[in-house]
Formats: sequence, C-alpha cells, structure tokens
Amino acid sequence: MKIANVESDVLFPVPFWVIDFDGVENINRAILQEIDRIDWDAEHQRRGLKHLVNSRHQEDVFITTELVPSAKQVVDAFGHSCLEIGRELGWDLEHNEIRVLELWAHITAPGKVTQTHDHAPSHLSCAYYVTTPQDCGELHFKEDRKQRASEPASPNLRQDVAVQPKEGRMVIFPGWLSHYVSENRSGQRRVSLSCNADLMPKALSHAVEISYAGQK
Ligand SMILES: [Fe+2]
Repeated sequence: MKIANVESDVLFPVPFWVIDFDGVENINRAILQEIDRIDWDAEHQRRGLKHLVNSRHQEDVFITTELVPSAKQVVDAFGHSCLEIGRELGWDLEHNEIRVLELWAHITAPGKVTQTHDHAPSHLSCAYYVTTPQDCGELHFKEDRKQRASEPASPNLRQDVAVQPKEGRMVIFPGWLSHYVSENRSGQRRVSLSCNADLMPKALSHAVEISYAGQK
C-alpha cells in the first residue's frame, strides 16, 4: 500500500476583537466613583450572597446600571460592537437579535489572579478596562479544546495568547473561549467590567431576564 497523496490543513481559527475607545477618561472616572460608592456588603446581602458579606470580595460581582449608571455606556458600546460582529459573521439578524444579558465588575486586588474559565453558553463576552496600573495582569486566551488530537503541527499556532490591558480597551471574544488573567503585580487594584451577550430569536428575547437595568 503506497500513499498517493496527503493533505494537511488547519481548521476553524478563533476570532476575537480588540477595540480601543478614545475619550473615555470621564466615563472611566465616573465608573470608578460609582463603584466606590457601592456598599458591597449590603449588595451581597441583598442578593442572598451571605457568604461574601464581610469578605471584601469584589471580584466577579454582578452589578446593575442603577448601581453604576456610567456602565451603561460600556454596555451600549458592547451591544453595538456585537451587532457589527454579528453582521461580519453572517448571523441571522432578521429573525434573531443580540441581547446583552449580564454585566459584572472585577475589582482585582494586588496579588490576585483570575483562574481559567469561560462564559459558555453566552455567544459573545467582553472585558472593558476601567483602570489598568502597570503590570496589573494580562488577559490570556487558551486553546484547550478537549478533543485536541496533538500539539499543533505549526509553530505559528499559538496555545496561549495574551492581550495587554489598557484603559478604554474592550476585548470581545466567543463566550466558550477559555481565558484567565495573570497576577496583578501593580500594587494597585485593576478594575474592569464584563458583559455577556446572546443571540436569540426575536420572539423569545423579551421573555428573557436580564441581570442589569437599563436595556430596552
Ligand atoms: Fe471571564
């Protein structure tokens, strides 16, 4: 038996988007001020997260645009960007619509890391950077699809891609894509916001609960 021909190819690259916004100083300052006014213990208590009361835990905390009104501009920017991405990807936006369903804040203390996780089943997710002191940790995307047959044949295929945080930067990625954040070595807190968006049938979308206020 002789080999007649062999073909090798690389399938399905993963897209992500890095959008840098200008003129964000006032918005970011307002977001920080509004976050600093939150009584986190009361907020945890109100949401039934009693284990977080008195813990000073401020990571991965769902917020609303009532608590942080200036975050609405970030949510809207994410929503508009998702729409553009949906068009670019050929999503059926005639029968479906993109809804931003969740908003949360990361207030990451010095020395902290964020372990690998993903946002499935959300279709698109984002991180938006509000304050990024030097060496506050990079956002890393990981190629960790479970059924990978082998290490990549091409050295050009990266297994771990780091994105530098930057104030006013929004990183958008597929919700299933694994990611983590390296240690905050800055000595100061890093603050970012995250949102999840779903593509859903128009007929159903208004019945879905959203976990932040302000979306029509
Ligand atoms: Fe995340």
